[in-house]
Amino acid sequence: MNLIILGPPGAGKGTQCKKLVKDFDLIQLSTGEMLRAEVKSGSRVGNKAKKLMDAGSLVPDDLIVEMISIQIDKHVNVKGFILDGFPRTAAQAGALDGMLSEKALKMDHVIQLEVDEDAVIKRLSGRFSCAECNIGYHDVFKRPIEDNKCDICGAQEFVRRTDDKLETIHSRLAAYRHKSEPILPYYNDKGILKCIDGMGSMEDVHTKIKEIIMGGDPKN
Ligand code: AP5
Repeated sequence: MNLIILGPPGAGKGTQCKKLVKDFDLIQLSTGEMLRAEVKSGSRVGNKAKKLMDAGSLVPDDLIVEMISIQIDKHVNVKGFILDGFPRTAAQAGALDGMLSEKALKMDHVIQLEVDEDAVIKRLSGRFSCAECNIGYHDVFKRPIEDNKCDICGAQEFVRRTDDKLETIHSRLAAYRHKSEPILPYYNDKGILKCIDGMGSMEDVHTKIKEIIMGGDPKN
């Protein structure tokens, strides 16, 4: 089973993908995480991407398509994958279809998380993660059990993303509205798009996604 999770920045895509990976034994392919790994390694791709990411702009399609194509090739024998943050433009959606048909794969569900912009700003401005194991937290919605100590690995150092500054969040939202939201009709026309209310708790959203995957009809 292959899935795409779409939604504006901060909609909870990464949070939900991590839960679904455990539920259904899938592989998460997050273009944002791949790019942050490139930035951290100081590679040529990373240096180019960093400037765009810090400005809240999208990274060029050719670079993203190549990155995802390598990952799909690597994971052809898995039970399935979840695409997190990809595709984000019409060109990326077209390229993905080409890759899938070449490998005789198909997309089973495209799930759009709908969250209003005020909530996005609250979610992103409070987000932080463990510097060691990368698990995500939030100042209000998901604090570590013990202050300053990661619940999972016990590390005491946390980091915030450089693109979670208010000004950059506004640019990311604008890029989403102009370039990413317009691809929704493409998946709707294919009959595989399901939009769900992403404003509930993390667990409520998780339940709704599972209902879609298991063939139910989530009540928003
Ligand atoms: P990327 O890393 O994909 O960022 P994004 O799409 O902006 O999404 P986020 O990771 O910020 O949010 P999310 O929806 O995963 O939310 P999360 O679960 O963390 O991309 C970063 C950049 O890379 C882009 O701006 C672009 O430059 C580049 N890029 C990436 N992919 C690209 C592509 N395909 N093409 C071109 N460029 C690309 O949740 C956010 C916070 O809210 C967390 O603190 C979480 O704990 C909390 N939270 C989650 N769910 C809930 C809930 N239900 N209630 C309360 N709090 C919640």
